[in-house]
Amino acid sequence: MRSHYCGQLNKSLVDQEVTLCGWVNKRRDLGGLIFIDMRDREGVVQAVIDPDETAIFDAANKLRNEFCISITGIVRARPDSQVNKDMATGEVELYVKDLTILNASAPLPLDFNQENSEEARLRYRYLDLRRPVMNQRLQFRSKVTSAVRRFLDDNAFLDIETPILTKATPEGARDYLVPSRTHKGQFFALPQSPQLFKQLLMVAGFDRYYQIVKCFRDEDLRADRQPEFTQIDIETTFMSGKDVMSLTEKMVRSVFNELLSVDLGEFPSMTYAEAMRRFGSDKPDLRNPLELVDVADILKDVDFKVFSGPANDEKGRVAVINVPGGASMTRKNIDGYTEFVGKYGAKGMAWIKVNDVAAGLEGLQSPIVKFLNAEVAAQILERTNAKDGDILLFGSDTYNTVTDALGALRLKLGEDFGLVEDKWAPLWVVDFPMFEELESGALTPLHHPFTAPSNMTPAELAANPVNAISDAYDMVLNGCELGGGSVRIHNQDMQAEVFKLLGISDEEAKEKFGFLLDALQYGAPPHAGLAFGLDRMVMLMVGADSIRDVMAFPKTSTAACPLTSAPGFANEEQLADLGIQVVAKEVPAAE
Ligand code: AMO
Ligand code: AMP
Repeated sequence: MRSHYCGQLNKSLVDQEVTLCGWVNKRRDLGGLIFIDMRDREGVVQAVIDPDETAIFDAANKLRNEFCISITGIVRARPDSQVNKDMATGEVELYVKDLTILNASAPLPLDFNQENSEEARLRYRYLDLRRPVMNQRLQFRSKVTSAVRRFLDDNAFLDIETPILTKATPEGARDYLVPSRTHKGQFFALPQSPQLFKQLLMVAGFDRYYQIVKCFRDEDLRADRQPEFTQIDIETTFMSGKDVMSLTEKMVRSVFNELLSVDLGEFPSMTYAEAMRRFGSDKPDLRNPLELVDVADILKDVDFKVFSGPANDEKGRVAVINVPGGASMTRKNIDGYTEFVGKYGAKGMAWIKVNDVAAGLEGLQSPIVKFLNAEVAAQILERTNAKDGDILLFGSDTYNTVTDALGALRLKLGEDFGLVEDKWAPLWVVDFPMFEELESGALTPLHHPFTAPSNMTPAELAANPVNAISDAYDMVLNGCELGGGSVRIHNQDMQAEVFKLLGISDEEAKEKFGFLLDALQYGAPPHAGLAFGLDRMVMLMVGADSIRDVMAFPKTSTAACPLTSAPGFANEEQLADLGIQVVAKEVPAAE
């Protein structure tokens, strides 16, 4: 129906006849003339209707915003005085020769000129997506997937699909279950990732696999988490962890270069231990210059139990954040931050305002300064590199509490004090512990149970699981975990040992992962891989605040879809077919 997109009209087309199809963005009636801003996915162009063209003029009078129309006309250069520099097509306009109303539009339930509620935006998502900003984000997303595919195709990767109706693939979240009609009482699980299938594809000899694939996780949602999201999923055979890192780093660099003309440079690498120590996070935002500085050794003998207790406990931690210029904080500010760290379990937040470094103890202002002597104070000032006008904020507790609380505080202070630099800060976090020890003493995998330990036999792992380091790696960008992966266990004994350490009985392992254990006995090759969160990558690239803004049809924070009203109740017949009886029906929340 069309010859051009609206956004394509420019001076090279002057005097040509073109036909456009799109929507009325705005109609202006300037007495004699009617101007129509017409929009399609490529942009907006101004069309002009002369009153002499009576029939067209009458039709144009009927136009309202969002009517779907087709216009044939002649491209004209605008006089210099009427060039609109804010409009990509602002040098030209279309002199209308023919106008067809393809479909009228009721007044929209969204107001494009103001912020609409998230609920309304999702309910009328097809209208929200007409907004150029949303439209461009999804077009950009398409370019990202296309660039990723090109890179992987060029590097001999094969795109192979894996099942959606499957068995549980544990990635740390709850499963979405799908009841089976043909096997009553049994359920498929939607994949939390294609992890096990991609490993089986390596056993099958495909060597290099990728898939841009939906994953499903029933977990608490946040700005960077959705119940269904998309991974760029990658697996390779005969490649070391370092090889996978190098290749996937090249891929991300190439995508940023191609689409944003940004050179991310070589990514630095940091161990998990260092990231937790210096930044209180396994996904440190390196745009923020604040760091956690350990001071337990200096405070072992002070007469202040809040410090000396954890300082003398091997599971304790005493650390400081020095906020440059922070001495200007009021009491109320300090109370606010104390309350903030309280949410992470901190029992308080001691502070010292550094008014005059040269004056030693005298130059410090704090309720706890009475517990310090000159030497301790001097050491703290030196270690934290404190200057006049700074404030030192202390955390003292178990290692995990201090790390979590100050890690979160560091991010908040960075925002509040405008310290976050405007740049791209990628890095690799490596050398993760294999397991995390829960309070109950049980072990849980830091990545997933198929991750290999670094250089260890099953017996060595069993002897000291808590200190085992895994061959896993995460790619972090601006404080966001963009992707994660690992070298996999390809040895059946090692896999069985890891299941055992995780408290999975032989029977359970056989029932849940028997197919994997079986596969590992038939010449399973060494293999390693990684998966990126595509939504997160696009969110960062377009500068959106939430992955919802780069997904066409996302869900609300309660994992519902206001557009289709999913999830919904099943009818009695469906339930009977499935052999399911619903015991508790929840009235849908009024969202
Ligand atoms: P992981 O669980 O770390 O690893 O997931 C990989 C990446 O997927 C993204 N991601 C999410 N994005 C949006 N919403 C979610 N709920 C969500 N959960 C995860 C993140 C994350 O880094 N099978 C392994 C990968 C591997 O070992 O190869 C896995 O799924 O960006
Ligand atoms: P208190 O002796 O409890 O009145 O605390 C004195 C100061 O130490 C106050 O500023 C508290 O916020 C701070 N404080 C108390 N517990 C901790 C803790 N676990 N870590 C850091 N500071 C603390």
